[in-house]
Amino acid sequence: MGRLIALHYSVMLYAIFMKSIRISLTELVMPCLDVYRIREDFPLLSSGVLYFDNAATSLTPKQVVEAIADYLLNCRANIGRGVYPLAQRATEAYEEVRAKVAKFIGAESCEVSFVKNTTEAINIVSMGVEWSKEDNVVITGLEHHSNMLPWLRASRIYGFEVRVVKPKPDGSLSLDDFAKAVDKRTRLVALTHVSNVLGTISPVRKVARLAKDHGALVLVDAAQSAPHMPLNVEELGCDFLAFSAHKMCGPPGVGVLYVRRGVELRPMMVGGGVVADASLESFELVEKPQVFEAGTPPISGVVGLGAAIDYLSKIGLEDVWRHEVKLAEKLRRKLVEVEGVKVLGPEKPQTGITSFAVDGVSSDEVAMALGRMGVCVRSGFHCAIPLVRDVLGEEQGVVRASLYLYNTEEEVDSFMEILVEVLRLLRGA
Ligand code: ALA
Repeated sequence: MGRLIALHYSVMLYAIFMKSIRISLTELVMPCLDVYRIREDFPLLSSGVLYFDNAATSLTPKQVVEAIADYLLNCRANIGRGVYPLAQRATEAYEEVRAKVAKFIGAESCEVSFVKNTTEAINIVSMGVEWSKEDNVVITGLEHHSNMLPWLRASRIYGFEVRVVKPKPDGSLSLDDFAKAVDKRTRLVALTHVSNVLGTISPVRKVARLAKDHGALVLVDAAQSAPHMPLNVEELGCDFLAFSAHKMCGPPGVGVLYVRRGVELRPMMVGGGVVADASLESFELVEKPQVFEAGTPPISGVVGLGAAIDYLSKIGLEDVWRHEVKLAEKLRRKLVEVEGVKVLGPEKPQTGITSFAVDGVSSDEVAMALGRMGVCVRSGFHCAIPLVRDVLGEEQGVVRASLYLYNTEEEVDSFMEILVEVLRLLRGA
């Protein structure tokens, strides 16, 4: 009997051992995701275009278009108003996406509002907090204009101070600098999760802890992180989080504003769909999350966002992220070898974004020439003039290549060949 039990355990241990070998072999041999299979979902790619402008907006997979078409063709009614079955089905579809978004970011449905985009979400917060003149708001020098202008404008209106934590040229932010900027008068700290120019990941968790120790609110601009990596608002420790569907395989025109339960925020707009009671003299509003959704919302966009979340979740955001970093590492390795090209940002890419400048040629000239060769990249200041011009010192802007789940190693090779040729022509060599 004893020998039988020993044999049983040996077989079990052998099976576990073999399984672990299989897992590690699979990890070694298999690519993180099946990029060639994924590419079939994006018809635009079959044109041969090299689409490296994903930080501006991503391409849309067929599944998302089909979900939107299904709503428009088969379930077309307004939400939250009608009591007939078609309207109720539309409302259910819309609310299901709210629950899906909540799960996607580790929140509750009542904390998720649909807005137009990241910019609108941040504007809502900037105009919705009950500010006092004595407050200060801390932002960083990495920010996109969307997470800078709303605070500057609100400071003009409400009289509070805006303090800026400057990044180092590689895009890193020092916690000591945050510790110097944040004090008991800090009402809110607003920072980007991932820089849209340098692709660096900000130390959001640590900054949020510091802000909380001082009783401040924390807003995270997740426009460049939500599409590319797993997100969890509890882990980040933020009170507000904003992102857009169009950068994550979804349609343009819809974004998400997460507002932590219990945080007070006035809506920026009022009107239909947010009324609990109204008379000609006064009104009473509904609660969050619908209170930020006055007027008929972008229903088809929300449905598309739900399909995009399904699409990305099925592939797995960890794998998407790993794939992009691997491509960005290859791109960077090759770019630094090209004479006269200055690659910006950290030596080890943290995401799929790589920006560079070329000696003696403006970023627009490079991007235009690349465009003529079927390569899509963004040039200029990337809605982050203070970062690009003042921190990086790039008066002519920078060229940005931003990768996503459907980009391949071969595309990186082609990109480099085309770039080298383009630079040779532009320099008249
Ligand atoms: N925010 C987008 C970008 O960085 C448009 O390109």
